[in-house]
Amino acid sequence: MRPGLKGLVLSGGKGTRLRPITHTAAKQLIPVANKPILFFVLENIAAAGIEEVGIVIAPETGHAIQAAIGDGSLFGLRVTWIPQAYPGGLAHCVKIARPFLGDSPFVMYLGDNLIGTPITQFADEFRAGGADATILLKAVDNPSAFGVATVDDAGRVLKLVEKPKDPASNLALVGVYFFSPAIHGAIDQIVPSARGELEITDAIQQLLNDHARVKSHIIAEWWLDTGKKDDLLAANTTVLDSWCRTDVRGSVDAKSSVQGRVQIGRDTVVANCRIRGPVMIGERCNLRNSFVGPFTSVGNDTEIADSIIQHAVLLEGCRLQGINRLEDSLLGRNVTMSSRGSQGLYRMSLGDDSDVEV
Ligand code: G1P
Repeated sequence: MRPGLKGLVLSGGKGTRLRPITHTAAKQLIPVANKPILFFVLENIAAAGIEEVGIVIAPETGHAIQAAIGDGSLFGLRVTWIPQAYPGGLAHCVKIARPFLGDSPFVMYLGDNLIGTPITQFADEFRAGGADATILLKAVDNPSAFGVATVDDAGRVLKLVEKPKDPASNLALVGVYFFSPAIHGAIDQIVPSARGELEITDAIQQLLNDHARVKSHIIAEWWLDTGKKDDLLAANTTVLDSWCRTDVRGSVDAKSSVQGRVQIGRDTVVANCRIRGPVMIGERCNLRNSFVGPFTSVGNDTEIADSIIQHAVLLEGCRLQGINRLEDSLLGRNVTMSSRGSQGLYRMSLGDDSDVEV
């Protein structure tokens, strides 16, 4: 019998494109719709019937990721931690995970990728056998920012190039890959790329050179790589739009109005506010005399008074006083923003514990 499918989740890296917030937090733990991105990843893996997962972590943020995930039982998973000493590339992650992977086929899933589809159907098809690798592709406007595939009409992959200047197609490699153990031999044959990393794209190209069978699926649903602030806000918007359902657990006074799909967590108090969904508000928050507009996620223990905000992600413990108005913004944990009557429109990307007066 073929050994069961394992999961390999890559949760290392330095998150430089998301600074300042990643100075103090792992990018995979930044919440989208009030849930860490990595949780979506692990839930998707668990839902596909996978039970054993190796998570690759970096020295800078590994401890925070371990603290958030624990032993994985929250997700119905058994977790093995795989420390990566330096960011050597995606194929380097597979290399160091080899003792964990053994001879098992596996799905490799990048911990900062969010996709709008379950992976169950792809996992089932891969388990049924026949391919050495299956990749997911998505048509994008900026293929040069990704690995790019050329495929034939039957979905067979012909060629792959990492971040080509002149892309041969608009099909980008989504950060979810299914591999048989044949990938290990391919990785042993490749050398580091111009950016000094062992590229998984090169390893899959090596499989093709060796006449292995590489299949692909073009996904119709959304795919979000949450590597930068604007991507993260886009991810928040898409996830709220797709998955936010009305659920009011806190208290909303008679002077407030709540329109559209809005979630309000336990022990949150809303007084004299207008909230227009899709919006998610965490637990133990206090909102007074404010407007919270569409596509906003507010973390637990946050206070918003006399303010107007929309299209923003606020992590836990923020304080907003008299801000008129805040848009397109990402605020880290425990950020304080206050104003004595300024009418400006602010767009902010603030790291944890920032204190801003406008
Ligand atoms: C990596 C892969 C790339 C893939 C992308 C998906 O890029 O190298 O092929 O399209 O993830 O998120 P990186 O984020 O390392 O630049």
